[in-house]
Amino acid sequence: MEPRLRATTDGDFEAIHAIEQKAFPNPWPMEAFTDFLFPWAWTLLLDDEVKGYIFYHGVEDEMVIINFAIDPTCQGKGWGEFLLKNSMQLLQDGGVNRFFLDVRASNFKARSLYEKYGFIAVGTRKNYYSQPEEDAIVMGKIIQ
Ligand SMILES: CC(C)(COP(=O)(O)OP(=O)(O)OC[C@H]1O[C@@H](n2cnc3c(N)ncnc32)[C@H](O)[C@@H]1OP(=O)(O)O)[C@@H](O)C(=O)NCCC(=O)NCCS
Repeated sequence: MEPRLRATTDGDFEAIHAIEQKAFPNPWPMEAFTDFLFPWAWTLLLDDEVKGYIFYHGVEDEMVIINFAIDPTCQGKGWGEFLLKNSMQLLQDGGVNRFFLDVRASNFKARSLYEKYGFIAVGTRKNYYSQPEEDAIVMGKIIQ
């Protein structure tokens, strides 16, 4: 498969929303994508089809990963790692050196990927998630 990363466009939101519904127990509604501006968002294309996305929110040298998923049919093949690594590198090239995120405590897959990229757990938000209710682990990575 030929991977390609590009800045997310409005035209990606329908495919992104479809993946979102398959990838998360409590997915973002369509309006969460369409009603806001996302200056730091990348879409993963495999053979020109939308198969993943990552959204960041931030100020100056600090970014928070606010949404990130790979189509379940393509998970476990290195594409999540590809998307995380390349998008973080683009931000780093632009001067970002602090990354944070929240992840469900039970999401060991994602936590393992973040740990692989040097994120460490820096805190817990009690009952942060709903459906099902669950703590969030706050993870951070600071590049010296
Ligand atoms: C989390 C997610 C983005 C990872 O993407 P992916 O393409 O499935 O993962 P990759 O194949 O790139 O794997 C990269 C690393 O993730 C971790 N990982 C992936 N699948 C795993 C599994 N089944 N069990 C444990 N760790 C796993 C490993 O650290 C792996 O590195 P390794 O292959 O050297 O062991 C993807 O599974 C996903 O979209 N999940 C649902 C949505 C989600 O949880 N998003 C994150 C919210 S914080």
